[in-house]
This record gives sequence, C-alpha cells and structure tokens, in this order.
Amino acid sequence: MNSKEIREKFLKFFEDKGHTIVPSSSLVPEDPSVLLTTAGMQQFKSYYGELDPDKTIHSNLGKPVGKNAVSIQKSFRTSDIDEVGDESHLTFFEMMGNFSFGGYFKEKAIELAHEFLTKELGLKISYVTVFEGNNSIGVPEDKDSAAIWQKIDPSIRIEKQGMEDVFWGPTGNSGPCGPTTEVYFENAQGQDVETWNLVFNEYFYPGSREELLSGVSEKKLEKLKTPGVDTGMGLERIMMAVQNTKNIFETDLFTVPFPNLIEGVDVKSYRIIADHLRGSVFLIADGVKVSNKGAGYILRRLIRRTIVQAKTVSLPAEALEVLFNNAIDFYGGFYKGLLDQKNNILSIFLEEQKRFNKTLDVGLKEFLKKYPELEAQFIEPGKPLKVHQANKISGEDAFYFHQTYGFTLDTIRDLARRGLHEIDIDEKAFEEAFKKHQEISRAGIERKFGGHGLLLDTGELKAADEEELKKVTRLHTATHMLQAALRQVLGPEVHQMGSDITAERLRFDFTFPRKVTPEEISSVEDLINQKIKEDLTVNIIEVPIEEAKASGALTVERAKYAPMVKVYSIENFSKEVCGGPHVAHTGEVVNFKITKEEASSAGVRRIRAQVAD
Ligand code: ALA
Repeated sequence: MNSKEIREKFLKFFEDKGHTIVPSSSLVPEDPSVLLTTAGMQQFKSYYGELDPDKTIHSNLGKPVGKNAVSIQKSFRTSDIDEVGDESHLTFFEMMGNFSFGGYFKEKAIELAHEFLTKELGLKISYVTVFEGNNSIGVPEDKDSAAIWQKIDPSIRIEKQGMEDVFWGPTGNSGPCGPTTEVYFENAQGQDVETWNLVFNEYFYPGSREELLSGVSEKKLEKLKTPGVDTGMGLERIMMAVQNTKNIFETDLFTVPFPNLIEGVDVKSYRIIADHLRGSVFLIADGVKVSNKGAGYILRRLIRRTIVQAKTVSLPAEALEVLFNNAIDFYGGFYKGLLDQKNNILSIFLEEQKRFNKTLDVGLKEFLKKYPELEAQFIEPGKPLKVHQANKISGEDAFYFHQTYGFTLDTIRDLARRGLHEIDIDEKAFEEAFKKHQEISRAGIERKFGGHGLLLDTGELKAADEEELKKVTRLHTATHMLQAALRQVLGPEVHQMGSDITAERLRFDFTFPRKVTPEEISSVEDLINQKIKEDLTVNIIEVPIEEAKASGALTVERAKYAPMVKVYSIENFSKEVCGGPHVAHTGEVVNFKITKEEASSAGVRRIRAQVAD
C-alpha cells in the first residue's frame, strides 16, 4: 500500500467508527505561544475540559466537531532540525491521529489502535510502553492501559517508562496533559521504532511542560472534568512498517518525489535536501514568508541549507527546482491546495534561491581560499576527503563568514562536511566573537547555539533571533514599568499574577478587584511614557533572596527563587526580582501603549500592551 492509500484508510477507518474527519489546520497555529503546529491535538486543545465539542463551531471545519475526531495534521518540529540526516528525524511530518473529547477513553482508544494496526494494516506490534507513575507530580502508574493491552493480546510485551517518554504535554504555556502508551514496530533493519502515541489527557497544567518537568514549580496538576484521548502516529514511520523499508527515506513519501536524489548523492545530504524541500513547500503553502524572524527565519534556514547541501554535492540549481516541483505535485495529490498555489510557492522558493546563491558563491570562494583543503569536496563530490588535518574551523572565521555572508553555523558546517565526516567549528570562540560584537543587554544573555544559527533562550524570554530578542527585551522592561505604574496609580494591592511576552506584545495579569477605568489607563500610560522620556538607567545587583525582599523588591507570589537572585531596578521607580534580560535605559522602550484591559479571572485583571516599533 502506498502513503495515499494509508492516509485514506486511516480516515475511513475512524470515520466508520464514529469520528468526524477534520482537515489539517495550518502549520502556522492560532495559539501564539507556539511558533509552528507540532501535533494534531493543537487545533483541539480547548475541547479538553473547556469548550463543548458538540456546540462550538470549529473554525477549520465550519461546524461542531462532536465528541470524536480524526485528522492528518501537517506538523513541524524545529527541535529536531539538527537531527535531520539520520534515519528517522524530520522537521516536517504528517501526524495521523484520532481524538476523543469525552466520547471514549483508554479502553476504546487502545482497542481501535490495535485493530487498525493488526487487522487493517496486518502489522505485528513489537512492544508497547505505559507510564510508570511519578510521585512528585502525583500521577499514579497507568495500570489500566497495561491491563487493556494484556486483555487484547496476552502475549504482548509491555514496558514501563517515565515522564520524559510517556507523559505528554502541555504544549505552549499551559494545557491538557496526561500519561501515554506508545506502540513500537520493527523496521527492516530489525530496529524498534516508536510509531503511535496514545495520550490520555486526564489533567490540566497551568504552566509549561518545562515547569512541570522541573519539579520545583508550585503549580499543580488539576484533574480535567472530561478526560480525553489524543493520539498521534507519524505517517512516515508507519509507512516504514507498511512498506517494510529500512528507514523513512526509503518509503514512497520520499522515493517518488525525489527519485534521482538517491544515486550519487551522499546519504546525509540527500536526507537533508528531501526533508527541507518538503518542509519549505508546506511552510510556504501555509503563508510563511522568508524573513529574519519567527517562522520566516525557519523557512529561510531550510531553503538556504538545501542550497548549501546541493552545492556540496554538485546538484545544480535547476535540479533543485525540479525536485521542489516534484514535491508540490506529489503532495498535491492529497493536499490539493498545493496545486492551486503551485506558481506562488515555487516563486518564493526561487527568489530566495537566487538571493542566497549570489552570496553563497562569493562567500564560498573566500571560504575555500581560507580552507583550501576543502576545495576537493567541490571538485570530487562523494569521494572521501584526502586531507583530514586542518579540520577545525576557527570561531573567528566562522563569525566572519556569519557577519559578512550571513552563513549560519550549519551552513559553515555543511560546507566543511565531507560525507559523514563532520568538521569541527570552534563554537566557543564563535560565541565569544559574537558576544564581543553584540552586547545587547548588560544583564547578560545566555545564548544557546543549536548549531543552526541562533536560538535564544534566556530562561524568562524566548526569541527566535536577535531581532526578536531585542523586541521581547524591551517588552520585558516595559512589563516592570507597567507593574510599577499600576501600583502608583491603582495602589499597592496590585501584584503580578502572570506575565507572557511574545515578539508582538506583553500580557500582564495582576490582582485588582474591579475594571480599570479609561482615565486610569491613560494615567498609567502617561506615567510610563514620562519615565521612558527621562531615559532612566536600569540597574542590576545580585543579592540573597531575603535581602532582596527586605529591600522592597517585588517578587511573584508562590514562585520559587534561588538563594541568590538578581534585582532589577529602574532608579526609584521600579524594583523587582527577575532573571532578565532588560534594556539598559528606559529610552530604549521608545513608546508604550495599552491595547486591552479585561478580566482574567475573579479578582485578576489582564492588560495587553505594546511598545513602538
Ligand atoms: N500529541 C501526541 C504526540 O504528538 C499524540 O505525540
């Protein structure tokens, strides 16, 4: 059976069992706390215990979904970008899933999965996993799932696993979550591959998964009124079992659109090209434009990396275009929208290709002058590199090429890589050069390099690139100013209850018993804009937490603090315990505007605000 048949079989099987077929939602999600759609459940998130699936009109369907749904969801996981090139990782993939929001629970979910896999597809399950329980979050071992599997198939092997593997969610800042059971198959190489994940959303967590796993947050899991089911099976992986191939790249999902890539091109480059081309097609089709931030930056990286890979294996630009076209045609067989937009999708790709090829050619010339031993790679692609000596690229050089030609670290690594032989870049020195060059915040920012350009994670703030980081840093300082101003205008009963910052806006929840009047809003805005005009200095000191509290620095109720904390103060206007980063002077915030004031929950108000661009 080919992949198109499997998709159709999956949808039909669940439709026959009382599920509504819901089209895939866009890769660009409605939930702004996630950059791209990473799972099938995202479009249904609010049905777990919140909205009524029988009554709420689903925006993607135009009518209520009802209690049971089935979908094939376009998904994209940026977290796996560096792994692409091995046998099983992808950025873009299709997730087949069935869902229930109070319709059925563990027993039926496991029965349906078992029936589909063994009867419809005729596959043999290798083993399954169930949740072993976790005392610190108060979730018991999932004995029910184990008993259900045993009842269906007494000979089945059941393994217990923990939080990392078999406890799903929440996605984003909060959401449903719960124990899962996972199904494994053997591929043609005899390796066990995780294929279908059945999640039993019994809980709601009012924070992120990181907070939940950290074990230190005081937030507690709450029981969902209506427990639900969320399952996800990667189409690429199940195709590997169905077509009995050694890895996902040998399934028709890759061999049909990218046939001529297999020969003559080293396997890692082939996989990267195939994955990234596919991902680019789908991102562009969902409206993502090439840019330097957010999803646009991901798209740029995919396209550029494809071009670099093609270069290293001497695949001409025209050949890449043919492959890109193939992908649109092949996937357009199921995702019809791709065919309607074909010219548009292709032109966005070609434009970026043209733009980057020019820089790449000039940059590559200079790069090879510096590292002549790598030249052989471009003359005899696919042959082992003779000279393995000068195999380290200096951090200063890497930074130079980054600054001058926009080469990301993975571009440089790809240019230097020979087959599977990776060439090191002195990342530490690169980072130092970067730091020296661009000190965004005196507070110091932790930079994390994922080997693919920059991903910044300061602990409190997340940003996809430098530009976005600057914006969220300004919004972060604005949040401190907002709390200070609210306390001056409304009174000291104002306390922070929550804060969420994206590149577009800040959101601040605080205790206050009534609606804030328009006059009060104006006073708060005026006060903040006055302080921005005064260009006050933002100061930072590190002190023991007790000392910070005694000095009057604001803390967040119920938050756990380290023994030593940073206190950020804006002269005598604001003082808070905080991890940073912040701007150095309030003038950098430029202008502050409240866009919305509303109730968040009983006794808690919510303000959204923006700073000028
Ligand atoms: N939401 C679950 C997953 O993505 C099914 O694995």
